[in-house]
Amino acid sequence: MCGIVAYLGSREAYPILIKGLHRLEYRGYDSAGTAVLNDAGQLNIYKAVGKVSNLEHVAEGHDHSGTIGIAHTRWATHGAPNEVNAHPHLSQSGDLTMVHNGIIENAAILRDQLKQRGFTFKSETDTEVLLQLIEYTQQKHVVDLASAVRIALQKVIGAYAIAVIDRKEPDTIVAARKSSPLAIGLGEDNCEFFIASDASPIAGYTNKVVYLNDEEVVSCRRGEELHITTLNAEKVDVRAKEIDLDVTMLDKGGFAHFMQKEIFDQPAVLRDCMRGRLLPAHRRIVLSAVTEHREELINAKRFIMVSCGTSWHAALIGKQLIEMFCRIPVEVAYASEFRYSDPVVGPGDVVFALSQSGETADTLSAIQLAKERGAMIFGIVNAVGSSIARASDTGTYIHVGPEIGVASTKAFTGQTTVLAMLALAIGREKGTVTEQVYLDTLAELETIPDKISRILEKDDEIKALAAEYADKKNFLYLGRGMNYPVALEGALKLKEISYIHAEGYPAAEMKHGPIALVDKDMPVVFLATHHNLYEKILSNMQEVVARKGRVLAIVSEGDTVVKDIAEHVIEVPHTLNSLCPLVSVIPLQLLAYHIAVSKGLDVDQPRNLAKSVTVE
Ligand code: G6P
Repeated sequence: MCGIVAYLGSREAYPILIKGLHRLEYRGYDSAGTAVLNDAGQLNIYKAVGKVSNLEHVAEGHDHSGTIGIAHTRWATHGAPNEVNAHPHLSQSGDLTMVHNGIIENAAILRDQLKQRGFTFKSETDTEVLLQLIEYTQQKHVVDLASAVRIALQKVIGAYAIAVIDRKEPDTIVAARKSSPLAIGLGEDNCEFFIASDASPIAGYTNKVVYLNDEEVVSCRRGEELHITTLNAEKVDVRAKEIDLDVTMLDKGGFAHFMQKEIFDQPAVLRDCMRGRLLPAHRRIVLSAVTEHREELINAKRFIMVSCGTSWHAALIGKQLIEMFCRIPVEVAYASEFRYSDPVVGPGDVVFALSQSGETADTLSAIQLAKERGAMIFGIVNAVGSSIARASDTGTYIHVGPEIGVASTKAFTGQTTVLAMLALAIGREKGTVTEQVYLDTLAELETIPDKISRILEKDDEIKALAAEYADKKNFLYLGRGMNYPVALEGALKLKEISYIHAEGYPAAEMKHGPIALVDKDMPVVFLATHHNLYEKILSNMQEVVARKGRVLAIVSEGDTVVKDIAEHVIEVPHTLNSLCPLVSVIPLQLLAYHIAVSKGLDVDQPRNLAKSVTVE
């Protein structure tokens, strides 16, 4: 988390930095700051607690001229989110300024050592420690900024993406990364540099991007081409990629919030996700990763899925789809648990990493460990060129476009769509899915975007329901089978953006504890679509009604039975059991959205959360 932007070129830096920070605000919004070096060699630093708009207010009317600068939006780790702890930080001499994303794990030890050498600290941050270490190194070894950064970073344990400016070298930015992402856009004549935590601040200026690898250090010097080295000063070739980022996707497009736009984007982006892969005319699903790795996939003794948050919920759906169509056992693990569990994993296993951002630190570490132990890594990622995508042996992008609202929506349905295509494609190669089921599911998958559009037409109806429930303090979400992960996801959506306590459960498990919570004040959202466990869920619903719980049920169109039991129902179009999460999750996304809006909360940037969790 935290977002970094830096610029060096012939344009004014400040507007580029501010625009970039707005695009990175999803990564954290505890505080923001800029440092721009003007033509007179003066460093002007502005900081503000909270969002980038506060920073703009603070800097308004002051000098922020200059063509070289760095900027930061923070998700606090070390130290409270106040102005002193906000980045950019300044070194003891006042010459060096730096922004940082990541955690320096040995910061406390380094801080003590630097104190003994006469350094003092203004903030509680690990960033200031690293900056003072760079200054100390520069003074001790009498070296330039890039060398000092390389030497200092060798003493550091932890994760970092940094950008540093030294007033004594006014035409240079030095940047480096380990575990936290960093991209460098190459503008005019390859001598204009846009540095950022992801490509979104770069989009619109250039499509030529270099993604740094771990422990690489770059020097961006005015009038020169990019120079990359390892921490040991060995030269590294510049590997520029052409990226294709649709700038319109980075705007709200007339919607009130990014989350709302992303919910409504789903029919279109799921068509993008399936385009060129699901080929109904040829009665085929073609995924290049399955073609290229056919043998490893069909002969795998088991699959393991690692992920966090919403991506973990998608993995629970993926497990059911793969077991259903491929008859390969699938384990689903929280990446944060997997990485420290000394997992039994090795050759013959395929480990799937599911991640919207492709930067989640726990997921990245989990696959690095699995890879070291000989497993094949299959990435299911949205952010093209991200760390997880690059660390994977193969994979399938979900291609749903940038997701900016912190609460994930279209990435979830995108992941589920890819998992359905994947399970069908592998199952067909393996011969574990019948031709009829394969063709029926393929044809049904193609209709899903239209079915989602029909649910989105119920927006007003769901908004009205949201008003009825917005004052509740607790919610239960219950589902079974394919709808069980949807119950978890519905509860997570509500929790994340409305701050209402919500729990998702497999409906039958309710009687083993959660039922004690049910009374007239407890809304219970049932996923009760017409699928194989429909009768069972009706019984669970009766049990709740008998205890006076208020039932809101998601049902299949035309259902008359649940209408008599539940207080409210929302109808969704019929689909196959295997694909039902793709329709049943949509009303839950809208319900959470409208409840949060009616409570006047910040839907896109809920408190304490960040979209890209690059710390463990
Ligand atoms: C954060 C986000 C969630 C997301 C999770 C995993 O917690 O707020 O929305 O599901 O990280 O992120 P990933 O990018 O790996 O899918």
